[in-house]
Amino acid sequence: MRGFKKVTDDIFWIGGSDKRLERFENIFPIPEGVSYNSYFIDDDKTAVFDTADISVADQYLENLKEVLAGRKLDYLIVLHMEPDHCSLIDKVTALFPDVTVVGGKQTFTFMGQFFPESAEYKKLEVKEGDELSTGKHTFRFVAAPMVHWPEVLLAYDMTSKALFSADAFGTFGALDGGLFADEYDFEKDFMDSARRYYSNIVGKYGPQVQAVLKKAAGLDIAMILPLHGPVWRKDIGVFLDKYNKWSTYTAESDGVIVIYGSLYGHTASAAYAVASSLRDKGVSDVRVYDASGSDVSYLISEVWRVRRIVVMCPTYNNGIYPPVEGFLNDMVALGVQNRVFALAQNGTWAPASGKLMREKLSLLKNVQVLEDMLTIKSALHSKDMEALNNFTDAVVNA
Ligand code: FEO
Repeated sequence: MRGFKKVTDDIFWIGGSDKRLERFENIFPIPEGVSYNSYFIDDDKTAVFDTADISVADQYLENLKEVLAGRKLDYLIVLHMEPDHCSLIDKVTALFPDVTVVGGKQTFTFMGQFFPESAEYKKLEVKEGDELSTGKHTFRFVAAPMVHWPEVLLAYDMTSKALFSADAFGTFGALDGGLFADEYDFEKDFMDSARRYYSNIVGKYGPQVQAVLKKAAGLDIAMILPLHGPVWRKDIGVFLDKYNKWSTYTAESDGVIVIYGSLYGHTASAAYAVASSLRDKGVSDVRVYDASGSDVSYLISEVWRVRRIVVMCPTYNNGIYPPVEGFLNDMVALGVQNRVFALAQNGTWAPASGKLMREKLSLLKNVQVLEDMLTIKSALHSKDMEALNNFTDAVVNA
């Protein structure tokens, strides 16, 4: 079956989409699916950029054979050695034993760890600034260390002005027939998935992404070909601008998210009272999340979107309620910056979660934790409304 897609007259997408995988990296839920992109160069010499995940092996290998149409594969260029892109290297090299595998020094170290038989491969080691010609196309390699693995290379095609961007500019979400971002309503169909992908997978490496964006600014880019999600050929600046915001921890919205933990519903009721008060005071973008019912990857994505975060948490075993603690730990692990936090604690006999959450947030750089903290004893009552009003005033004015 013909499963490949044409990018240009001599560049083809030969990847696959997976809607069966429940969790990407066995962590992140992906109800929207995911695509694994690989690109074939139909030139004097044939070349492929990366392979794909084992889950789409049959489709991928069929696509590869179709586009080759009986020719042999000359180059397998490996930009990223994470298994969602490299897991078919052994199958491709078995099919084409004379293929030259192209990658960086560390790429080949990792390749040896995943595939000991790679010691026998014909290899071409490249580094930043090196060029590889396949005939009409000449590719220049650009190092992108820690976006989000250390060995990552990008490749810029000086002929088509296409940037093969590895995981950068990727997104969760299967390709539902279209290959190009402009074939979709990207804002509606992909932007939330792209933000969740970026914030959870690449979010820790903002400075490294900034370094790549600076290199990209020096290139005349007509297309971006990532390893996940649609290819960009129009309005590339829209997505570059998002990446600039995300990698500088700049909020897209001045809104507020209210994230709560609640054993029996009392802190949840208080959270909705806070949200209602914020709306009454003119904050138009307010969303409420139950930390127990929302996968933390969605909460992290929302942290990247908005500037102000209210965290409301019961005290549990003299500590932070575990679903909220997991969220706080993830923010610390990802190095969230430039946000304002407001804290509310609940406790029936010894509220302590507020102090503990403040200690946890002190591990973050460039964040403000408001002094005003709301304390609830078991449940919110009429007598607490003045304190709640002061609390939301502080959030509105922050
Ligand atoms: Fe899509 Fe870092 O692999």
